[in-house]
Amino acid sequence: MSKGRKARDVFGSKFGIIAAAAGSAIGLGNIWKFPYITGEYGGAAFLFVYLGFIAAVGLPVMLSEFVIGRKARRNAYGSFKKLAPKSLWQNVGFLGVLAAFLILSFYGVVAGWSLKYVFFSINNTLAASSPSEIEATFNRFITSPGPPLLYQLIFMVLTGLIVVIGVKKGIERYAKILMPILLVIIIILDIRAITLPGSMEGLKFLFKPDFSKLSWDAILNALGHAFFSLSLGMGTLITYGSYIDKKNNLMNTALEVTIADTVIALLAGIAIIPAVFAFNIEPGTGPGLVFITLPNVFNQMHGGQFFSILFFLLLSVAALTSSISILEVVVAFFTEELNLTRPIATVLATILAALMGIICSLSMGIYSDYTFMCFNFFDLLDFISANILLPLGGLFIAIFIGWKFGKYKVFKEMAHGGSLKGYFLSAFMILVRFVAPISIFIVFLFGLYEKLHGCLF
Ligand code: PHE
Repeated sequence: MSKGRKARDVFGSKFGIIAAAAGSAIGLGNIWKFPYITGEYGGAAFLFVYLGFIAAVGLPVMLSEFVIGRKARRNAYGSFKKLAPKSLWQNVGFLGVLAAFLILSFYGVVAGWSLKYVFFSINNTLAASSPSEIEATFNRFITSPGPPLLYQLIFMVLTGLIVVIGVKKGIERYAKILMPILLVIIIILDIRAITLPGSMEGLKFLFKPDFSKLSWDAILNALGHAFFSLSLGMGTLITYGSYIDKKNNLMNTALEVTIADTVIALLAGIAIIPAVFAFNIEPGTGPGLVFITLPNVFNQMHGGQFFSILFFLLLSVAALTSSISILEVVVAFFTEELNLTRPIATVLATILAALMGIICSLSMGIYSDYTFMCFNFFDLLDFISANILLPLGGLFIAIFIGWKFGKYKVFKEMAHGGSLKGYFLSAFMILVRFVAPISIFIVFLFGLYEKLHGCLF
C-alpha cells in the first residue's frame, strides 16, 4: 500500500465538511466572475437560466461526485479506477486532474491581482485617481511582466502552505476560520450597497428578466459558470467527498453547499451591481468590473477606503479556500497514484501550476500577440476549462452515476447519514440519467457552435 493511502485523512466535523466544500465552491467565480458575466449577458435573464442549471444539473452532479468519492475513498482518478476497474472511466478522473492544473494556473493570476488590490486599498493608492487613471493603473499592472507574477507567486505559496499541512489540520481548519469572516464581510458590503441612493436600478437589472437578450452563447456560459462556481466536473468534490465520514448525509451536504454558493453569488451581485448603478456606471465591463469599476465606486463612497480593503480581502479569502481545493485534487492524485509524500506532491503541483500561471499572466502583456482563435492564453484556459472540460466532466459523472454505478449502490451510499425518502432518489435518478446529460449535451452543441462560429468567421 502506498504512503498516501496509509495517511488518508478525514474531515473532523459536519461544519468542517460544509466549510471546506463551500469554501471550494465560493470563490473568484462568485465574486469576480458572476457579477461581470451577469452584466455582460444582460442581467436577470442570464441569472434565471443560471439558477435553473444550478438546481437541475449542478446539484445532482455535486451529489454524484460526493457519492463517488465517499464510496471509493480515493483521489478523482483513483476513484474511477476503483469503482470501474480496467475501463475507460478512469480517463474522466484523469481529465479532471488536468482541468485542475489549467484552472489553478489562471486562478492564481486573478487571485494575485486581488492580493495586490488589498495593498492598493490599504495605501489608498487609487483614492485621488480619475476613472481613466484607475483603468490605466489596472491595465499597466496586469500587463507588466514583474509585479503580477510576484503576487501570483505569493498566493500560490499561501495555497501550498495550507494544503501541505493536510486535510483536517490544514484545509478544514482554515476553511472554518475563513468562511465565517467572508460571510460577515459580504453582509457589510451588501448593506452599504443597497443603502446607496439610486441602487434600486441595479436591483432591477439583477432581478427583472428580459429573455429576448438570451443567446446560446449566454446559455453555454450560464452552464459553464454553474459548473465552475460549484467546483464541479473535475473531481474537486470527488476528492473532498473521499474525506467525508460515512455518517454524513450527503444529500443535505450537497444541498447546503449549493445553497451557500448561490446565496453568496447573489450577495456578491447585490454588493456590486447596485453600487455600480448608483454611481451611473455601465454594469457589463468585463473582467475589469471589480478592479476598475469598483475602485471608482469606492472613491465616491463615504468610508470608501474601509470598504475597499474589506472587499479585496473578501476576494482574496474566497480565492484562497477555492485554490486550496483545486490544488488538493492534484496533490491527492500525486500521493495516491504516484506514491509521492504529501510535501513533495504539494511542492511539485504548486510549482507546475505556478509556471503555467506565469504564461497566463504574461499573456495579458508581452505575450498578448499570441492568440488562438479569438483567445489569448488566459482566456483560452478559462474557456477550455469552464466551458468545455467541466461540463464534459459533469456529463460523464452524471452518466456514470445514472447508468453505470447501480441504483441500489447509489441508494445505499446516499442513505448512510440517516433515512432517505424514496421519491428523492427517484427524482435524483431522473436528473442524473436524463435531465443533466441531455441538457449539457444540447447546450454544449449549440453554445460551442455559436461561440466558435462567432470567433472564426
Ligand atoms: N468554485 C470556485 C469559484 O467559484 C472555482 C473552482 C472551480 C474551484 C473548479 C474548484 C474547482 O471560484
